[in-house]
Parts: sequence; C-alpha cells; structure tokens
Amino acid sequence: MKNILVIGTAGQIGSELTMKLRENYGSTNVVAGYRKTMPSDDVVQSGPLENVDATEPDRILEVVKKYKIDAIYNLAALLSAAAEKNPQAAWNVGVNGVYNVLEIARENNCAVFFPSSIGAFGPTTPLDNTPQDTIQRPGTMYGVTKVSGELLSDYYFKRFGVDTRGLRYPGIISNVTLPGGGTTDYAVEIFYEAIKSKKFTCPLKAGTFLDMMYMPDALDAAINLMEADPSKLKHRNAFNITAMSFDPEIIAAEVKKHIPEFKMEYDVDPVKQEIAESWPNKMDDTCAREEWGWDPTFDLPAVTEDMLKVIGEKHEKGLI
Ligand code: SER
Repeated sequence: MKNILVIGTAGQIGSELTMKLRENYGSTNVVAGYRKTMPSDDVVQSGPLENVDATEPDRILEVVKKYKIDAIYNLAALLSAAAEKNPQAAWNVGVNGVYNVLEIARENNCAVFFPSSIGAFGPTTPLDNTPQDTIQRPGTMYGVTKVSGELLSDYYFKRFGVDTRGLRYPGIISNVTLPGGGTTDYAVEIFYEAIKSKKFTCPLKAGTFLDMMYMPDALDAAINLMEADPSKLKHRNAFNITAMSFDPEIIAAEVKKHIPEFKMEYDVDPVKQEIAESWPNKMDDTCAREEWGWDPTFDLPAVTEDMLKVIGEKHEKGLI
C-alpha cells in the first residue's frame, strides 16, 4: 500500500486510525476524508485532508484519482442506536456508501478495508462462543448494513478480484474521540463519569455480556489484516475478533478497584437493551488467530488502568 484514503476520519475509530496509518506509511500518503464534522486538530494538521462523503461516488473518485489511492479504509457508518433513530440514513451510508467504495475500488484497483461488527449477528445466532460462520439474522438496521457490507465485500473479491478485507469489531473502548449512538458506548462513558463524578448510570442491565476491545488493539487488527499474506486468508472479510467479554457489574467492579467511592446505578434504555441481548456474549475468534495472527494485548484490568490514567490527566488539565 502506498496511498491510503480513510473515509470517516472524524469518527471514533477513524480519528485514531488515520494517525496510526500516517505513522506507519508517512503523513503525506494518508488522506483524511471527512464529511460534515471536521476531524481533530492533529488529523487536520498532520497530512492531506479532503471532503469525502461515502454517498457521493463522484467525489470519492476525484480524490482516489488525485492522490493515486490504492487502499481505502471505509469507516463511515451510523452506530446501532443512532441507526434505529434514522434507518434511512444508516442504509444510505452503510450500504450505498459501501457499494460506491467497492465500485471505485474495482475500477481503480484499490484494496478495501470494511469494519463489520458484533451487530452483524442477531437473536437466532448462537450467542456463546459465536462461531465465525453461523446464523446472521440481525434485527437492527445497523446489523442489516453490516451483513450487506460483509456479503458485498466477499462478492467483489470473488467476482472481480478486489482485495477486500474486514473484521467484526466488538465494542471499542477509547479515550480520544467519543463513539456516539452505539449500544456498547456505556463501556467508554463509565470511565469519563467515574473521573468526573464518581458515579455512572448504566443503560444496560446487569448480566448483559458483550465483547469489547481497547483501541490500540483495534487499530493493530485493521493494519495487520491489511498487511497479512493473502494466501493464508481463507475468510478475508468479517473476521470475528475480541479481546474481552464483560457485563456492567464486572467493569464497575474493576473501576472500583481504582476509585473505591465509585457508584453505579441502572436506568435501562429499552432500545439498547434489546440490541445488546441480540448480540454475542462472547465470539470465537480462532479463525483470525489462525489465519493472520490476531493476538490482542489489552485485557479489562489493563484497559481500566490506562483509561482512568489518560482521562484523569485530561480532567486535571480541564480538557473534559
Ligand atoms: N459499537 C457498536 C455499537 O454499539 C457495535 O459495533 O453500535
């Protein structure tokens, strides 16, 4: 890969992935695409910036040609609860946008990274040790778009030889850009609230287990998969990957080890609860481990320590 376009650089993953790609491949070789929201200052200042909307193919094509792009990381999407508020927009970005990127990749010989999600599963999926290849009948528009993206990515590889690759991310915990509108957002918010007010109101019930991962592992996963030897990839797209699985009680207990006065109460959001209950408790990520060496670094105690340290420092400086 020489010239990379990231679409969705103002988002939770895009903001950090752009900086990591610039570190690895050189700042001028990674174009930051944004739609409405300006990306963070470090993204804006460290390399090329272009207005790129996944739903506007002419504009994507212009940028691909201008920078001779040969790999596209397409991160544009609405998260699960936000997609339930606006399913039409979620479809437009999550399906039409993915199709636009794949078509342009086919015509211009680009590799494509597509982030799928635990949201690609549904209530009829086996939710414990969820296999790589299993039932996928999601009940959310987010899930419908993610399954469509997985299938389209497979199709463009099989039919046209486009070098498509992708992962099923779990909830991503990070401290740079907030997620927003996701079912797993509580596992980020809890750390901010623990630092700011020592209490947190959780929108999911105790006992709701979900897969999670810390951002550094999520970034390595995308880059390592895109760098992987293609002859070893049997799946290419939609690899299950996870680093930990917990419920609200377990993460709260971990926070309490650092902040003993921390208190959590519950005010369950029925939309998020229904979504969370339809998603895996814990995925089986053996295929990712075997085919391209997936091996996460951070577990829950390590994430908790680092999140509280970084957010605590930001709070002291008055940044949050
Ligand atoms: N973090 C996403 C969400 O909760 C799941 O992929 O919507």
